Amino acid sequence: MKDKLDIIKLNKKAWDNVAKTYNKEFHEEIHALFNYFCELLPKEGYILDLGSGTGLPYSKLLIEKGFNVLGIDLSSEMIKIAQKNVPEANFKDISMTDLNYNEEFDGIFSSYSLLHLNPQLFKETAKRIVQSLKKGAFFYLCLNGPWIDGADLDNDVIIKFKGENMYSRPYSKEEILNIFSPLGLKLLKFEKEIITSETWGKENMNTYIFKFE
Ligand SMILES: C[S@@+](CC[C@H](N)C(=O)[O-])C[C@H]1O[C@@H](n2cnc3c(N)ncnc32)[C@H](O)[C@@H]1O
Repeated sequence: MKDKLDIIKLNKKAWDNVAKTYNKEFHEEIHALFNYFCELLPKEGYILDLGSGTGLPYSKLLIEKGFNVLGIDLSSEMIKIAQKNVPEANFKDISMTDLNYNEEFDGIFSSYSLLHLNPQLFKETAKRIVQSLKKGAFFYLCLNGPWIDGADLDNDVIIKFKGENMYSRPYSKEEILNIFSPLGLKLLKFEKEIITSETWGKENMNTYIFKFE
């Protein structure tokens, strides 16, 4: 699964196939730092929801807070659902690995989407994310961290979710800072929380808020 196409293709098929049940079943508590992130953003700012899924809850909440929202997702099935769930936002079915914007967004929000990339794709996409941010803009990143320090994080990266194989990898705080700090992102806040959901079980949730300086 080292090849770019393989991972993207595998995850697209998996998310297309689970989209309808995910939309019905998925109810999540709002992440603790979501409101903190929103308060940093300018009024009516332009926000990219990266891997926006069904648009619920986050694209919808961003719209309700008065922001202009573009959601992108690899899965065209997820995008169709998101367009119905949040008609006030714009959605596009593209992979974040093909993100191609130039200093456009006041904020980029990524909840549990970047963990679907392997380290090489992650690093390439990180550059595209930073390129898409205006100077002074903010980046919200939420994904799983490892359970054990020093564990081999490239083991067991193909997970089974609702009968579908998909790529998903935890990232340590050290890896995340090594990727984003040299690109000019300054860490404003970090929070680690053990969460349990019916959909995913127990997770070591790591949330980062960065500013592009
Ligand atoms: C766990 S869901 C999270 C959805 C939403 N962000 C949330 O927090 O509720 C992961 C989402 O990331 C999307 N995704 C996976 N790989 C992607 C990629 N390369 N580009 C864009 N979206 C991707 C999936 O299609 C799926 O909708």
